[in-house]
Amino acid sequence: MKHAVDAKTLVVLGTGGTIAGQADAQTDHVGYSAAQIGVDQLVESVPPLADALDGCRLVTEQVAQIDSKDMSWLVWQQLAQRCAFWLTDPAVQSLVITHGTDTLEETAWFLQSVLQPAKPVVLTCAMRPATALVPDGPQNLLDAVTVALDQRASGVLAVCAGVVHDALRVQKIQSYRLDAFDSGPDGPCGHVEQGRVRWAGKSDSAGHGHVTAGLQAVANAAEPPWVEIVINHQGADGRQVDALVRAGVKGLVAAGTGNGSLHADLEAALLRAQESGVRVVRASRCCQGRVLPTPGDTLPDSNGLSPVKARISLMLALLASDGPADAG
Ligand code: SIN
Repeated sequence: MKHAVDAKTLVVLGTGGTIAGQADAQTDHVGYSAAQIGVDQLVESVPPLADALDGCRLVTEQVAQIDSKDMSWLVWQQLAQRCAFWLTDPAVQSLVITHGTDTLEETAWFLQSVLQPAKPVVLTCAMRPATALVPDGPQNLLDAVTVALDQRASGVLAVCAGVVHDALRVQKIQSYRLDAFDSGPDGPCGHVEQGRVRWAGKSDSAGHGHVTAGLQAVANAAEPPWVEIVINHQGADGRQVDALVRAGVKGLVAAGTGNGSLHADLEAALLRAQESGVRVVRASRCCQGRVLPTPGDTLPDSNGLSPVKARISLMLALLASDGPADAG
């Protein structure tokens, strides 16, 4: 652990999501409006937080109030900057971020890549709105605080349904159930049980080896480099890729089938794109496993990243190669 054990502030940053959502009926788990309740009210609705904090000062800040399907570059910039601000405060032990489930894994990977924090930054969420008969947000928030204050926690983590995931592995795999996230075959990095964290293996997100832009390059970029995802499927061809290249795309992530395999016509278009200077990366559309490189591969693989995370890493790599070196 790099952070001081006597640091005594925990900061909860609100960004919206279903955890802050409201529905007209207690039984409605889908027809609600996300991002309605402020982070102060969310925190106040969980009285056991006082015990979990164990004397630690709690600070809240509303960074955004959005449905995470609308997560933008601007909100990412603001969130990264607010995280960096709090993380450099020696009194701050850890951060918790309330977030929508839909793009949580992308924000987790973005923050891990840009900040590579030694202190814990724990994203949490809910699958049911705060107005549900039995909402899951309060327990998730309590669990997230428990993880954030655990001395063994570090880096960007996600907590949902009592399970602790790291930024590299976490993926939303369920559209309705409360236990909506998974860490793939290597499993989660821990579980929260009765207010304690039982840790398991954690991946080395920080040392994943990708070239990445730091906070300054992110803050300076009015727009991120344009990177799109194209998916392989029965009958896939190259027209979408050719159109994207003509429109000025800077990077393409191919979500291949199985071990990143691509229809011959789609592959030919991607190779044309690569030859014209567009950066191309090959991931797999399978929700588990990774693309294993084979001799003679003509398109680089995503080094185990899912298509959405490979897109973020490619954006950040392009940003890093665009601008001056940034210690971030
Ligand atoms: C969102 O992602 O903001 C809405 C959906 C959710 O949080 O489950």
